[in-house]
Amino acid sequence: MEPATFVLFGATGDLAKRKIYPALFQLFVDQKLPSSFSLIGLGRRELSHETFKSNVEQSLITFSRSEVKDADVVKKFLRAFRYHVLDVDRKEDYTKLLRLVEEREEELNITPNRMFYLSVGPEFFETIATNIHESGLGSVDGWKRLVIEKPFGHDLESARQLNHTLNQAFDEPEIYRIDHYLGKPMVQQMGQLLHSALWEQADLRTRSIANIQISANETLGVEERAGYYDHTGAIRDMFQNHMLQLLMMLMIELPNRSSVDEVGKLKRKIMKSLMSLNKMDITQHVVRGQYGAGEIKGEQVVGYTDELGIAVDSQNDTFIAAKLRVDDPFWKDTPIYIRTGKRLKEKVTRIVIEYKSKGPLKDLLIVEIGPNEGIFFQRSQSDKERSDVEMSVRSQLSFMKESVKDAYETLIHDALVGDKTYFAHWDEVELSWEWVQPILDAYQDTLIPLHIYSAGSYGPHEADELLARDGFHWWFDF
Ligand code: BG6
Repeated sequence: MEPATFVLFGATGDLAKRKIYPALFQLFVDQKLPSSFSLIGLGRRELSHETFKSNVEQSLITFSRSEVKDADVVKKFLRAFRYHVLDVDRKEDYTKLLRLVEEREEELNITPNRMFYLSVGPEFFETIATNIHESGLGSVDGWKRLVIEKPFGHDLESARQLNHTLNQAFDEPEIYRIDHYLGKPMVQQMGQLLHSALWEQADLRTRSIANIQISANETLGVEERAGYYDHTGAIRDMFQNHMLQLLMMLMIELPNRSSVDEVGKLKRKIMKSLMSLNKMDITQHVVRGQYGAGEIKGEQVVGYTDELGIAVDSQNDTFIAAKLRVDDPFWKDTPIYIRTGKRLKEKVTRIVIEYKSKGPLKDLLIVEIGPNEGIFFQRSQSDKERSDVEMSVRSQLSFMKESVKDAYETLIHDALVGDKTYFAHWDEVELSWEWVQPILDAYQDTLIPLHIYSAGSYGPHEADELLARDGFHWWFDF
């Protein structure tokens, strides 16, 4: 593995503590970091290298999945760490940073391969990328890479603007857009596992699919993210990125997958084949909700507008359900229902493929993505009474052995080795925004009512009607 300098913007932030350091540490323990590796953490606060290292150590103790028992291992890991104070707007700070990066490269005698990881709010992406470019930090003999986290833009226009600015400093192959759903083991394996699952139940392959349901239900509320979430909502926070990526990953059939270009090409094809919604469709096919007060697992929780930092009259969405159609001879009669929301009854990310059948027994292929993982085949009664489902036959077709691995471990490792397979390509991001934009416009024009649902439910009942109109129901809502 090539040597690398990991330049981390937002090194004192929450994501760094919770995800990035534990992931890097795990990679270190597993010997999956370059043998010559240097990390420079950047933040606004003055900190000594030593205080920075001890803060990182604290975050490892709290969040690492490897037991941080062996002080020597941690010490060795932290040897690579340095801290540098940086105000993202001050050009001279980047010049000083360049000096530190070069010094470290000389000390370690390594080729300048630089990974710039922007673990900061998206409002800083453009400024930082421009300053990296103008300061010379981006002029390297080796490679340079930019890693950014969603959201990539706030709507279609701002996403294009952001991309245009990033492209002044980095070429598309150098930009790694993290969508952590793409790092989930089940999502990565889904193509192959589905293929083998379908193979085992061979008759399913030739039968047509009645509908597909993709749910990402959360029990968490807005937490301490009011400032971000109240301007984002479920549609931008989850739907435009994670949910559409799940759809793409499900629909690509990957038995002979060989290269990142091929995956990208297939994903683009799927996004292009999604039928766009006109105003009329949107009012019929999209359900928008916001959680009210309720009870989750025996605990009373407040409604969204009573959350800290949320305006009492906020019209922000915490739930979205939509019906999508694909303009393709194979999929044209198969509706795809997608929903995601906060403060729902249970935490689960799941895909259900329901096959067509004449009788009351329904065949389901179920992909559990989280928190449990596996692919199941189930034959069930068509109505959603719990007792019927309990009587149904469920067989596990495939399961993941290694489910503990965090998405960030996989994605940071991939970025270090230059494998972009599980990162969001700009074309996918743009096509996703294109599909979502008419819905955002309809929200803006208040064409879609905001339904209040009780916390601890499965969302507004209008989301059930979305399927009931077609003669279906969401599976496993008990
Ligand atoms: C994040 C969203 O991208 O994904 C959060 O910003 C959400 O609002 C989270 O809670 C869900 O991720 P997971 O992996 O817990 O399903």
